[in-house]
Amino acid sequence: MNKDIERILVSEKELDEITTRIAGELSRDYEGKRLLLLCILKGSVVFMGDLMKKISIPVEIDFMKVSSYGSGTKSTGSVNIVLDLYRNDLPDIDIVIIEDIIDSGHTLSYLTTYLKNKGARSVRIATVLDKPSRRDPAVNLTPDYTGKVIPDEFVVGYGLDYDEKYRALPYIGVLSPEVYGGR
Ligand code: IMP
Ligand code: MG
Repeated sequence: MNKDIERILVSEKELDEITTRIAGELSRDYEGKRLLLLCILKGSVVFMGDLMKKISIPVEIDFMKVSSYGSGTKSTGSVNIVLDLYRNDLPDIDIVIIEDIIDSGHTLSYLTTYLKNKGARSVRIATVLDKPSRRDPAVNLTPDYTGKVIPDEFVVGYGLDYDEKYRALPYIGVLSPEVYGGR
């Protein structure tokens, strides 16, 4: 295990089970529809790759990038689109946003509204992790597909970073507080 990781929160085996389960749910729910998996860069790339391989119906993929934490461990609350979605067929498309983790909920509530305003036929959310205890009460957001609900701890791995590090870990772990100078 990486020396900066205090403990493993979601093992490789559990992540495999999570992606199998959610891929099955999506394959069932989007049968006969035009499903677009919309990966939110960069944290969701690993989940996206694992998930799309296990979906048994035709899927399209696309990418957006929004600003998030910078190098800290707390959300700023403001969302900026860094890479937009450029397509003119959104009224025919059912989007599932592929996200690594939902914390305050600001990012996804903003994105959901944004995509609906752009004309998407439907927008749902699949996330590996949910930290509902951190949700901004002003944000009314519940993911449609959730891998695992976790307590309020800063986690890395499986795409999730701290200061751009640890994304390639194959598991999700709690970062030792010493790494970012205490809780
Ligand atoms: P939200 O807008 O507060 O819901 O923030 C969501 C984004 O914050 C995620 O897509 C992550 O990039 C980042 N984030 C939130 N919690 C964590 C964490 O525990 N580890 C790493 N990144 C996190
Ligand atoms: Mg991040």
